Amino acid sequence: MNEIKSFLDCLWNSYSKITPSAQKIKSIFENEGEIVVNDHIAFRTIDAGDLSITYLQPHLFKLGYKVFDTYLFKEKKLIANAYKHPDPTIPKIFLSGIQPNYFSTDVEKILLRLVESATLPWNADLDILYSGTLWPNITENEYVTLLKESEYAAWVATLGIRPNHFTVNVNVLRKYNSVESVLNLVERYGFKINESGGRVKGSKSILLEQGSTMADTVTIDLVGNDGNLVPAVVPSCYYEFALRHPDKEGNLYQGFVEKSADKIFESTDVK
Ligand code: NI
Repeated sequence: MNEIKSFLDCLWNSYSKITPSAQKIKSIFENEGEIVVNDHIAFRTIDAGDLSITYLQPHLFKLGYKVFDTYLFKEKKLIANAYKHPDPTIPKIFLSGIQPNYFSTDVEKILLRLVESATLPWNADLDILYSGTLWPNITENEYVTLLKESEYAAWVATLGIRPNHFTVNVNVLRKYNSVESVLNLVERYGFKINESGGRVKGSKSILLEQGSTMADTVTIDLVGNDGNLVPAVVPSCYYEFALRHPDKEGNLYQGFVEKSADKIFESTDVK
């Protein structure tokens, strides 16, 4: 149990360091007397070689997580698995991976080179899930090439393996018991909301409603044409809010909805 708690702490530290908005929004809820509980934590990876979902998920299995659902995002060329822990108070994990072979040869080559040049942490274990970029910095040209075809690819190439977002469980909030009321509160404090596909994605009839902030930004280094490092401001991570509804049997739906997740992914779009 301590192992999973310290794992979750490491994830939050890695995430909140480059997502100061999340830390601030969490404090806003706490100042409102709410207890912030996470519904799920999401990761992005390149689904190839040692960084594929198949290679990463045994680390989650060791903590007691089990796969409970699988998703396909055709347009974004991603696959994903959802994992839950036997202890329902432990957040679910959503691990998605981009599939290099569905992109142009240029993009595929860059992504596969990142996987091949990745230096896995010694005795990788759980550290790998908050290890960031395990490969040398990409070039400015590579960044542009990736971004043209996939914002997700550019995100993974610059930020690596780490939590992409945490998700507040709206069901356990007392005063702010709808996604819209949460978004309104967050917006009142000056944070930007992801409007792609509407502010609230999903509905009661599909058992899941979600919303999110737009990602913060972080300065990273790219390699310029002359071989020198050039600072670049790129999207980091966002904060999501999820409200789950009971199914016919009265159980809260625990899965994810492709159509909504597709729009939530766009929280890290480059403006
Ligand atoms: Ni999510």
